[in-house]
Amino acid sequence: MSYAIIGFGSVGKALAKAFARKGIDISVATTRDPESFALDAATIGPNVIATTLAKAVKADIIFLAVRFESHSQVAKALPDWKGKTIIDAMNTQVPPEELGGLPSSAFVAKAFSGARLVKGFNHLVAATLAQDPAIHSGRRVVFLASDDDDAGEEIGMLAENLGFSPIRLGGLSEGGLLVQARGKSWGRLIFKDLVKFD
Ligand SMILES: NC(=O)c1ccc[n+]([C@@H]2O[C@H](COP(=O)([O-])OP(=O)(O)OC[C@H]3O[C@@H](n4cnc5c(N)ncnc54)[C@H](OP(=O)(O)O)[C@@H]3O)[C@@H](O)[C@H]2O)c1
Repeated sequence: MSYAIIGFGSVGKALAKAFARKGIDISVATTRDPESFALDAATIGPNVIATTLAKAVKADIIFLAVRFESHSQVAKALPDWKGKTIIDAMNTQVPPEELGGLPSSAFVAKAFSGARLVKGFNHLVAATLAQDPAIHSGRRVVFLASDDDDAGEEIGMLAENLGFSPIRLGGLSEGGLLVQARGKSWGRLIFKDLVKFD
């Protein structure tokens, strides 16, 4: 299984740290020449590899950590996203009417035609997401929502491997709305920093 993060800002770097902590290879890409951020990537860990967008989208599992406005540009990198799992870590306060009334991740899924989409890793501020999820003898919670059960399961296992405690919220238009901004109001679980104790 191969992994990539598109976007290497606050959230992209926080996610890269999670992979580095566990020694799992991760490619990171932006619109820029990878040489321009290769040192930043290597500083996070030797397994964090700066690459081009064209190469990053070859990964099996791809985190979207760009501004919502940029996702349609990223979607153009492949004509068809069949076989890929996309994790939508984005937030947006675009009003629902501008998204055709769809949950934001369902709107994103339409752009990444053929992909299996999971909304997740988006509810914490980047500085919190960047911290080691093993805290107080527990594990920090990440919420996952997907209309594809297998994809939800797959990303749940990845979240566990990264040291988080995943909580599956069901489909995008049910649990997904709990971790989504709707216009100017935030879903009730956004910013809730929870820790699970076994
Ligand atoms: N910041 C937070 O605390 C936080 C928390 C939860 C969720 N989020 C969500 O996470 C997403 C990222 O937020 P952020 O704060 O990390 O943003 P950011 O710091 O502005 O980083 C965005 C990254 O995306 C890259 N990018 C922009 N357009 C791109 C494109 N077309 N193709 C590839 N890369 C592109 C940018 O690099 P270049 O411009 O150099 O290409 C930059 O590395 C947003 O949707 C935000 O709502 C943020």
